[in-house]
Amino acid sequence: MFERSKRGEHALLIQPLPPARGGGSPDDDPLEEFAELARSAGATIAATLTARIDRPNPGYYLGSGKVEEARMLCDTTGADLVLVNHQLSPVQVRNLERALQRRVIDRTGLILDIFALRARSHEGKLQVELAQLKHLATRLVRGWTHLERQRGGAIGLRGPGETQLEMDRRLLQRRVESLQRQLDKVEVQRAQMRRARLRNEVPRVALVGYTNAGKSTLFNALTGAGVYAADQLFATLDPTVRRVEGLDCGPLVLSDTVGFVRDLPHELVAAFRSTLSEARDADLLLHVIDAADPLRDERIAQVDAVLEEIGAGELPQLLVYNKIDRIEGAAPRRDHPGQGHERVWLSAMSGQGLELLRQALAERFAVVRLRAGLHLPGSAGRLRARLYELGAVRGERVEDDGWRLDLDMPRSTAEQLAVLPEAAPLKALLLAAHGGGSYNRGG
Ligand code: GTP
Repeated sequence: MFERSKRGEHALLIQPLPPARGGGSPDDDPLEEFAELARSAGATIAATLTARIDRPNPGYYLGSGKVEEARMLCDTTGADLVLVNHQLSPVQVRNLERALQRRVIDRTGLILDIFALRARSHEGKLQVELAQLKHLATRLVRGWTHLERQRGGAIGLRGPGETQLEMDRRLLQRRVESLQRQLDKVEVQRAQMRRARLRNEVPRVALVGYTNAGKSTLFNALTGAGVYAADQLFATLDPTVRRVEGLDCGPLVLSDTVGFVRDLPHELVAAFRSTLSEARDADLLLHVIDAADPLRDERIAQVDAVLEEIGAGELPQLLVYNKIDRIEGAAPRRDHPGQGHERVWLSAMSGQGLELLRQALAERFAVVRLRAGLHLPGSAGRLRARLYELGAVRGERVEDDGWRLDLDMPRSTAEQLAVLPEAAPLKALLLAAHGGGSYNRGG
């Protein structure tokens, strides 16, 4: 007997190849990435098949010879599922399922399935369900009645899958609308929360990076948290937020985000974006790179392209070249190539070089906080109240003609307050304690 995954899903992978040579770098192995995705969804790989697609067959996507080849491979290897690394039309899926007598899932369906497995927050789950339903809606034309129905969570049928297949489209539409409304509400709440905490807040740092680069591992190493890290793609779909303590610059808030992947299907961009809003609001992005990945430069460019898309392209970055333990002779270091971002080379797993990263962070944020004593005259009661509201006052002494406050707050907040009419003392303090200015977004 062949080995089966826990769910008993044994998959034949079909990797389409472009007609002629060229397009895609020769080192790039789409099949390997696809196999990784399949494993992330819990499948075992029964066999793989490449198919050169000169002109996609409108009915089957694959040519008839390939379909036959696939069917035979399924029979000989015992594959009970066929995964195609391309977007298929509903008709193509249906025809292939009929010809192969097995469930057929395309790239979008597979990634959706992984998202469904990984989503943890309320919002993440809503987003994934919405994307799944939208994907499903296009496939509901005649249902999947030609296939024996399967019970239990199987790849591509998890989440809203099976029961909704028989559902009236109208009900489906209603559910989509309801989810959309809930999500809009979550978005509003999130914006309000963001505004409320916006000002006297410690600097925010977001981890971004290609999937499997080691973000969660680094997150744990920096925060001491036991966040899930697994050698699976998309181990993190929802951001997890924690404080990093013990830095010379004071605490930071660090958030982990979902891993990036190339060719993210269009339906998934929204689900993906919601998990990335943490990144968009950050003061600094820690871009984690698998330094041992032969394709690392390409991955960096892919991540940068997505950041650009979600409006985070201008944020300052600190590049973390992770996994140096897998590069012979590599030692932890910091460097700063002329044009590019500063880089820290480390191993999140062994902890080598972690201290260099903590130093780099502390230096970067040292200038952003204003820590000083401020004398306020009795007439500046409103400013004093505002400073308390912002949580910027660490201590106070009453003096003859007012108060002496011990302040600790972000410089940017102090700069905003300093334009108020009664804030002259604060303005003077800022001028006196210029300390190298604030960090720039886009630096
Ligand atoms: P996604 O959630 O898919 O985006 O992944 P991630 O970037 O959060 O990666 P994660 O931290 O889950 O790590 C992926 C794999 O790389 C795990 O098997 C880790 O144990 C491994 N890994 C992380 N850091 C290092 C490292 O410094 N050295 C080595 N050798 N492996 C590492």
